[in-house]
Amino acid sequence: MQRRRHIWQKLGDLSAGLAPDPSPDGLKWRMASPPDIEALGELMLSAYRGTLDDEGETPEQACDEVRRFFDRASGSAEKSASVVAEHDGKPVCASLCCQWDGGGRVPAGPLIAYVVTAPAYQGRGLGGSAVARSLRALTLAGRTRTYAFITDGNHPSEATFRRLGFDTLTD
Ligand SMILES: CC(C)(COP(=O)(O)OP(=O)(O)OC[C@H]1O[C@@H](n2cnc3c(N)ncnc32)[C@H](O)[C@@H]1OP(=O)(O)O)[C@@H](O)C(=O)NCCC(=O)NCCS
Repeated sequence: MQRRRHIWQKLGDLSAGLAPDPSPDGLKWRMASPPDIEALGELMLSAYRGTLDDEGETPEQACDEVRRFFDRASGSAEKSASVVAEHDGKPVCASLCCQWDGGGRVPAGPLIAYVVTAPAYQGRGLGGSAVARSLRALTLAGRTRTYAFITDGNHPSEATFRRLGFDTLTD
């Protein structure tokens, strides 16, 4: 069965309603960049494994996807809004933001293209913290809208984005 993906958006003050960041000890946040492609590909594979969005991608396909992401994240706002958390020298969570033309359905704007947390680190608020960092960076860059695509029934993702002030667009 092909599940539907919905557009979610947050408009206005993108920093509104964000809780302080829970940052477990030993976690280091920084901007994501192309040298992270391989490690982020691995992180994506592990995070999506067994979820509704798992299409059985190979490590090479996951890296290609991350590489394509960096090609679209060329604006400075999107670069500063793409963050990764490292633990023991490995990325364990990331929120990656790129430009989106709106697909003829909505005005163009930044898109939180990926938010992923390694399975062993899920349930500690890291995913929400990563997206909150992206939203703060977009606010600093003067952005007042941002989007995400969420597959119908992806409850962890829906909970994360709803808590941060996103709403689903009905279509
Ligand atoms: C979505 C995702 C990034 C959330 O990351 P996270 O670090 O676990 O985020 P949080 O700890 O803030 O938890 C978010 C929600 O996930 C759910 N959740 C987290 N860990 C869970 C676990 N082990 N079992 C069940 N539900 C869990 C909870 O419902 C939580 O919402 P709540 O705080 O309102 O109860 C993570 O689940 C993930 O990587 N999923 C696979 C990739 C994906 O689907 N990305 C989103 C695409 S838009």
